[in-house]
Amino acid sequence: MSSQIIPVEPFDYVVFGGTGDLAERKLLPALYHRQLAGQLTEPTRIIGASRTAMTDDEYRQYTLAALKEHLKAEELDEAQLAKFLARIFYVAVDAKSDQGWPQLKTLLDAGKDIVRAFYLAVSPSIFGDIADKIRDHKLITKSTRIVVEKPIGRDLASAQALNDTIGKVFKEEQIFRIDHYLGKETVQNLMALRFANALYEPLWNSAHIDHVQITVAESVGLEGRVTYYDKAGALRDMVQNHILQLLCLVAMEAPSSLDAEAVRDEKLKVLRSLKPITGANVEKRTVRGQYRAGASAGGPVNGYQEELEAASDTETFVAIKTEINNWRWAGVPFYLRTGKRLASRMSEIVIAFKPIPHSIFGEGAGRIEANKLVIRLQPDEGVKQWLMIKDPGPGGMRLRHVSLDMSFAQAFEVRNPDAYERLLMDVIRSNQTLFMRRDEVEAAWNWVDPILKAWEEIGQKAQGYTSGTWGPSQAIALIERDGRTWHEND
Ligand code: BG6
Repeated sequence: MSSQIIPVEPFDYVVFGGTGDLAERKLLPALYHRQLAGQLTEPTRIIGASRTAMTDDEYRQYTLAALKEHLKAEELDEAQLAKFLARIFYVAVDAKSDQGWPQLKTLLDAGKDIVRAFYLAVSPSIFGDIADKIRDHKLITKSTRIVVEKPIGRDLASAQALNDTIGKVFKEEQIFRIDHYLGKETVQNLMALRFANALYEPLWNSAHIDHVQITVAESVGLEGRVTYYDKAGALRDMVQNHILQLLCLVAMEAPSSLDAEAVRDEKLKVLRSLKPITGANVEKRTVRGQYRAGASAGGPVNGYQEELEAASDTETFVAIKTEINNWRWAGVPFYLRTGKRLASRMSEIVIAFKPIPHSIFGEGAGRIEANKLVIRLQPDEGVKQWLMIKDPGPGGMRLRHVSLDMSFAQAFEVRNPDAYERLLMDVIRSNQTLFMRRDEVEAAWNWVDPILKAWEEIGQKAQGYTSGTWGPSQAIALIERDGRTWHEND
């Protein structure tokens, strides 16, 4: 089965932070993949911008090295590479002075009428400076958009300030706030599963669902992002954005269409219905953790503070029990957990249905497990529906818990595109459905801020956990106190 590629209009993508980690690991490879897929049209250009002095040719060499490092050898097609590199340009600009901006304007004027996207893959502390320069140098055309990466603030006040800064220069419909989790195939599949099937939606509520689990587990540690991460921690880095976005897609009402405002209106209602966690219940509902030395990917690894080379109480793990105060979900716990240096890289959403009301089977049939729908984001994207069936063969009725298993890699012979590929093209198509609106980001902070405040007030410490495990024992107790368990990785 092949996927359908619809070419996009020609564009100029200006990547600020063009020599940074995100450009190298994600943006340049994603754009190259779109070239390979035949989605780019003439005269599309990709313009790297950063403070480093470099010629176009040097940036082409940089791009080539990045592609070689981050793509498989069989993905590097010589003819396509040559075409892609011919699209690459570079301008050295300084966010804080006028240096380089006239050159950028001259370059962009050559493509005046095509779509223009500015991607801010830089520290949020210079978002405002760059936005102002873009305006002052008259770089905004009718079809200009700006893409911003997280972190959008470190609390509600700073997020509002950042949104105001960008909002002074760009209109909301020009601002694309990226949450790359929304570009993941399985996350979009969640919408297909819920709203393109009649089967699940009637059951998708507190009458039939016992609880929901969302796990985003990573096996990596700090990956050199020491300065950023130690000031952020897992709640800000993963929960405020990625995990709450997943929760919204699980819990939202059916939007009237896939139109950006329709979807985002529904997600916003979920965020605003989250039961507050404050000083009164924070200890019961949240667990903070920090990894200690242990083993990961088969080898010994240092603990967080050894990697940091400093004492710190920043959490690298968080588990939360929350609820959504509305008619559909009242009383259904949502257990969320995420952490670094866990036993494996695994992200999944588990919809745990209620047990059957009465068993007609005798004791010999064995235990009857409740149904579960497991939506696996990574690795091995797919969906598993856990059911009870009869064990085959004679000899009475014995029941067995099995899964109807759909692995996307096995079912479809297409490469699973990286989230950025889809999202970068959505910017060009001006489709904001998978991007966060200002009020969503702020509603998420509005829920997260009291947790941060409560942690500080009561001095809730990060509990140590051994690298390569599933986090602190308190996270297991958080769910087991309620007579439930975290879904076993299978
Ligand atoms: C980023 C976080 O947003 O997401 C990182 O800042 C994290 O800390 C990453 O490692 C995880 O993304 P993925 O796509 O690898 O699950």
